[in-house]
Amino acid sequence: MSAMPRKRHVDAESAVPRAIAVESSSRAIEHSRPSVQPSPGQGRVPELAASRAPYEDAFDAALRPRSFDEYIGQRRVVDNLKVFVEAARRRGEALDHVLFCGPPGLGKTTLAHLIATALGVTLRPVGAPAIEHKGTLASYLTSLGERDVLFLDEIHRLQPVVEEYLYPAMEDYRIEIPVGEGPAAQLIHMALPRFTLVGATTRTGLLTSPLRDRFGIVLRLDYYSPVELAEIVRRSALRLQVEVSEAACHTIGQRARGTPRIANRLLRRVRDFAEVERSGAIEEPYCGRWLDRLGVDRLGLDDMDRALLRCVIERFDGGPVGVESLAAAVSEESDTIEDVYEPYLIQEGFLSRTPRGRVATRRAYQHLGLPEPVLTAPGQQRLL
Ligand code: ADE
Repeated sequence: MSAMPRKRHVDAESAVPRAIAVESSSRAIEHSRPSVQPSPGQGRVPELAASRAPYEDAFDAALRPRSFDEYIGQRRVVDNLKVFVEAARRRGEALDHVLFCGPPGLGKTTLAHLIATALGVTLRPVGAPAIEHKGTLASYLTSLGERDVLFLDEIHRLQPVVEEYLYPAMEDYRIEIPVGEGPAAQLIHMALPRFTLVGATTRTGLLTSPLRDRFGIVLRLDYYSPVELAEIVRRSALRLQVEVSEAACHTIGQRARGTPRIANRLLRRVRDFAEVERSGAIEEPYCGRWLDRLGVDRLGLDDMDRALLRCVIERFDGGPVGVESLAAAVSEESDTIEDVYEPYLIQEGFLSRTPRGRVATRRAYQHLGLPEPVLTAPGQQRLL
């Protein structure tokens, strides 16, 4: 079998959804943005991503850019999106379905909001694990208006039957609805408004190809540069009315793991230190020291990143080690390791992925101050 096995819904966390408020603060602060509709039924959706704490949603939403022009970073993605949205708008058509791929916290939800804003339509956000039946999906689809955006987060976690039900909706804007029961049961075809599905996934490899192929626009988000993150921190500080020096913006940008959500989270934490231990202004050299106290080191690695690397090196002789063994050893979910921690450690060259498992690189030993293994005869060579 060549394809990666598709992940069926597994973890207990999503089987018992933790409810969070939907975007209420973004509506409170921004009247001109399109309305964000709550999910049918309860007006709440389950937590959308492992790395996003429920209490952070309002904070994230309040700091979100309100237009493509305010968006910092992801230049090529944003410039292309602007063109696609403008073309659809001029033709009076729904935008083609859009798929965003990339690690958590890079702006997939933000871009979905900006698409809806630019189209002047309503965005309906839904976490895919919350859609347990075809009927639930049908209720979302039939409540959309013409050209609205349905945002399906964690789309790789859709149930297979629900996913298949989505295909004709995406392709021909129609669904089949069962009417009646038993031998007299009938399927009636129902036309849907022309809508745009915006899907977001942290795991492109887990998407089936029939689903992936139905997206006309597929965009991959990359980690941000420290300079872009410093700019995001500057902008967020302005909105939060926090005084922060240029040097402190750069320190935070450098330690934010390439991720705006983390940059904003760090800003919020150092603001606490600044208010309690100083006059409220965030300045160097204090900012760096506060980040040290938070366990965030100069390369942006946190306690869990270092624990993972140390575990590979000390408990598994530097690897290779499979993600399940690693997850058990550090008491973390393997999904979280794969979605949240590993991509950055790989991108920064601390970890490499081999067919036999994860291997710590020379840089990992150096960063942790651990002695590097000595290369011996061929056949005994360590993979460094
Ligand atoms: N806040 C979070 N992400 C942002 C981005 N990419 N640009 C501007 N502000 C942000």
